[in-house]
Amino acid sequence: MAPTTMPIGLTTTKAPFIEQAVANHEVFIRQPYELYSEENQETWRRLYARIKPRWEQYAHPKFLEGVNNLALDPHAIPRLEDINKFLQPLSNFSARAVSGYVPAYLFFDCIRNRAFPTTITIRDGAKLDYLPEPDIFHDVAGHVPMHTDRVFADVLVRFGEVARRAAELARAIRDEHERIRVVESNIKAMARFFWFSVEFGLMRCGRELRAYGSGILSSYGELEYSIVAPEVQRFPFQLEWVINQYFEIDHYQPLLFIVDSFDHLFGQVDELEKWMLAGKLNNVSPGEPEVDERDLQSFLNATL
Ligand SMILES: [Fe+2]
Repeated sequence: MAPTTMPIGLTTTKAPFIEQAVANHEVFIRQPYELYSEENQETWRRLYARIKPRWEQYAHPKFLEGVNNLALDPHAIPRLEDINKFLQPLSNFSARAVSGYVPAYLFFDCIRNRAFPTTITIRDGAKLDYLPEPDIFHDVAGHVPMHTDRVFADVLVRFGEVARRAAELARAIRDEHERIRVVESNIKAMARFFWFSVEFGLMRCGRELRAYGSGILSSYGELEYSIVAPEVQRFPFQLEWVINQYFEIDHYQPLLFIVDSFDHLFGQVDELEKWMLAGKLNNVSPGEPEVDERDLQSFLNATL
């Protein structure tokens, strides 16, 4: 009898397939579906079953619509090609498998081209609640349902355009020291904007607050906490505050910003670009996030 081989698994930080891709400097990869282990599939089922009722209570209606439109399977890790069959006709977006870290400029350039860099590993089943890096549950169950909405998808594209503008502006600065200083400040401002909207945004829907940010929507604990906890500070989205507000990623967010609509958010991205062009993002307050050298270089060496 031939020995049966068990799939080796695609567990976050423990996947040889990913280690090999990273060693080969491959950012964009295929999703080797056959490698998911039974334990990986069980992790997906547990995460999905646990969060589903909370989505119904606290998620933005467009997110819930997106979950239905993508026909997300509660019982199996999604195949990105299946997701894309549903997603592309709705907003012309797609989910594109990556090996992990994507340099910031490349990430924004991808979303400008309507492709969302998507992690394919899944967290360890022993630690369902917190992991510092994204996994497929965060990316596909947290981000991608929002991409089915045309206005939200356009917000992402617009954001990608602002990032391109930052790279163009950097190129025009002759003094190297000043160029690095300005691009770092601009990256910080963009990262903060992205964090307080796409990752941790709330929206007012009638008399209720609902979450549209993926960091909230992929966290069973934080989803409820973000909406109901009295100790969370929630304020209307204010650009001058958001771009100067540091954030930390390793605990529930104590401060969140509320937008009125996705059109409102789109307008704020327009405003962000105007401010960048006027030099109003050149001196944002220091503090988190620190700009990674690789992210900085990705802007300085961007192909425009
Ligand atoms: Fe994310």
